[in-house]
Amino acid sequence: MSGSNLTPSRWPARLIYFATVVATALAVVAITYLLTNIQTRKDEANQRFAIPDILTEDSVDPALWRKNFPRQYDGYVRTADMVRAKHSGSDAIDKLAQDPLLKHFFAGYAFSIDYREKRGHAYMLEDQEKTERVKQKRQPGACLHCHSSVMPAYRKKGGGDSWEQIKAGFEEVCAMEWKDAHSLVKNHPVACIDCHDPKNVQLRVTRPAFILGIQALAQSSDKVPHLPSVERWRTGSKKDAYDPNKEASRQEMRTLVCAQCHVEYYFQPKTSLLVYPWFKGLKMDAIESHYDEIGFRDWPHAETGASMLKAQHPEFEFWSQGIHARSGVSCADCHMPYMREGAVKISDHHVRSPLLNVARACQVCHRQDESEMKARVEIVQARTKALMDRAEAGVKELIDAMKHAKEQGTPEMKVQAPQSFHRKAQWRLDFIMAENSMGFHAPQESARILGEAIDYARQGQIALLR
Ligand code: HEC
Ligand code: HEC
Ligand code: HEC
Ligand code: HEC
Ligand code: HEC
Repeated sequence: MSGSNLTPSRWPARLIYFATVVATALAVVAITYLLTNIQTRKDEANQRFAIPDILTEDSVDPALWRKNFPRQYDGYVRTADMVRAKHSGSDAIDKLAQDPLLKHFFAGYAFSIDYREKRGHAYMLEDQEKTERVKQKRQPGACLHCHSSVMPAYRKKGGGDSWEQIKAGFEEVCAMEWKDAHSLVKNHPVACIDCHDPKNVQLRVTRPAFILGIQALAQSSDKVPHLPSVERWRTGSKKDAYDPNKEASRQEMRTLVCAQCHVEYYFQPKTSLLVYPWFKGLKMDAIESHYDEIGFRDWPHAETGASMLKAQHPEFEFWSQGIHARSGVSCADCHMPYMREGAVKISDHHVRSPLLNVARACQVCHRQDESEMKARVEIVQARTKALMDRAEAGVKELIDAMKHAKEQGTPEMKVQAPQSFHRKAQWRLDFIMAENSMGFHAPQESARILGEAIDYARQGQIALLR
């Protein structure tokens, strides 16, 4: 019984056996295909790590990087595009014509001759060459630090690649005449090499004034919860100075590369050395207190005689006071958001206003739709603008009152207090005007600062009446 049962049942068993062999073979083929496919995708995704060995510290020209990084290069060259958003723009419009009060605010200073809306990175060197501030006034080589791919010039002047030599070259180039210093740099704005190590394309900072500035900040006791690596360094031995390239996290670096230039600065009198004023911290008041301590002024005001300060694009400092910084959101998160091209995730190197790109710049973190996100920005900007208009009116009226008092022969002694109020009010107003987000990077901080500007302007008027 069992034998006759065995024979016919062999057939299904063989069938099952062959089917298994065929299925296994197919599976092997399929898996192999899948693995190869995944590998290809991975290779594609990893192509950023296929580092060319032809790049060196002298590969300033972005075209040299193009072959290996065509997508980043394409975005980079698109910074030449010109588009306007409500409170921003990329077309170098004349700010002085737009707001006639600026001529009074900057009376006696180069900014009353020519002051324009900034535009894309592609233009930074060209716009510096064109401004009447350079044509009509003598400017130092220090101007090139943030407008050109300047590192080779520092290394050459300093005689080598070490930090000490770069620092020496930096000091020398700062002190040169702008024209002579310009002849040392190739015709490139900020280039790949300024934010990336040519050996491995990792983010890095290069600018000496920034490195010295953040070291001074680390030495201070200003709380910087948004820069955890600085807080960590402070708890260590502090034997070596804080080094952002060694200590900062990748997320911090996505901000620090921008903080090389988008910051408040001044030139040291006599040496024209470029300095970032962070000795007491990053807040508007901490910077002012440094200037007061060293008795610094940018210029004497032509209409009031006050010793004035000019604020310059303090994006990094102002961002530092906002909720996004505190939540670990970097400049690159909003201004260079990720984009997908095939299997490849890359950073958008077309650096510009995030309002031109809300889907990628904001909606990765915020679930509201595009028009709602835009509306939220516009509310902040409209409120800031309204308060700014009041601060402008206050400062203008203080200037007029002081002019009038002078004409009436008011003794010098009696205008000293109003002059110091003028300095304080204008510094605050300008801090928010010169900052480029119209309040967005730190809305409450902008209201606080403009509120103080209005208060000081009016206190100045009251002091005159006394
Ligand atoms: C080497 C200095 C430098 C660095 C580094 C730098 N910027 Fe700029 N940036 C400039 C200058 C200068 C301009 C103005 C150029 C002009 O008006 O010709 C500018 C303009 C801009 C603009 C205005 C663009 C437009 O279309 O109006 C944005 C936005 C911007 N930068 C963001 C960033 C961000 C974000 C980073 C970091 C990823 C960064 N920048 C790094 C110097 C720099
Ligand atoms: C610390 C970095 C830094 C230094 C130093 C610097 N700039 Fe700029 N400059 C910027 C940034 C960032 C912008 C874009 C943001 C803005 O215009 O507010 C800019 C914008 C400009 C613009 C276009 C807008 C305008 O103001 O008309 C001109 C022109 C310019 N700078 C000229 C100069 C000159 C001249 C010097 C030297 C006196 C100088 N810059 C020094 C960072 C710098
Ligand atoms: C949470 C998102 C966000 C972060 C983070 C952020 N920004 Fe912005 N930034 C904006 C928005 C929104 C505007 C307003 C744009 C407009 O009005 O068109 C703006 C405006 C600017 C502008 C003027 C742009 C233009 O086209 O006129 C500059 C320059 C800038 N930011 C630089 C920086 C720098 C440098 C950092 C980091 C220190 C930074 N931003 C961090 C969202 C961000
Ligand atoms: C102002 C600074 C800046 C400049 C200039 C710049 N990059 Fe970047 N780049 C960044 C930032 C920020 C990232 C994001 C890095 C990260 O998140 O680790 C990045 C990322 C990259 C990456 C990694 C892949 C990716 O897209 O995220 C490559 C490759 C790259 N950049 C190539 C270039 C090339 C090529 C140029 C010149 C044409 C260039 N970059 C110019 C700031 C810059
Ligand atoms: C990487 C994530 C991230 C990105 C990108 C981002 N945000 Fe935010 N945003 C946050 C976080 C986190 C908060 C704080 C929310 C909290 O803690 O409740 C916040 C808060 C805000 C707030 C409230 C601010 C306040 O003062 O309370 C506004 C408005 C806002 N974001 C707008 C934007 C806009 C507009 C963009 C794009 C330009 C943007 N965010 C991009 C993460 C992000």
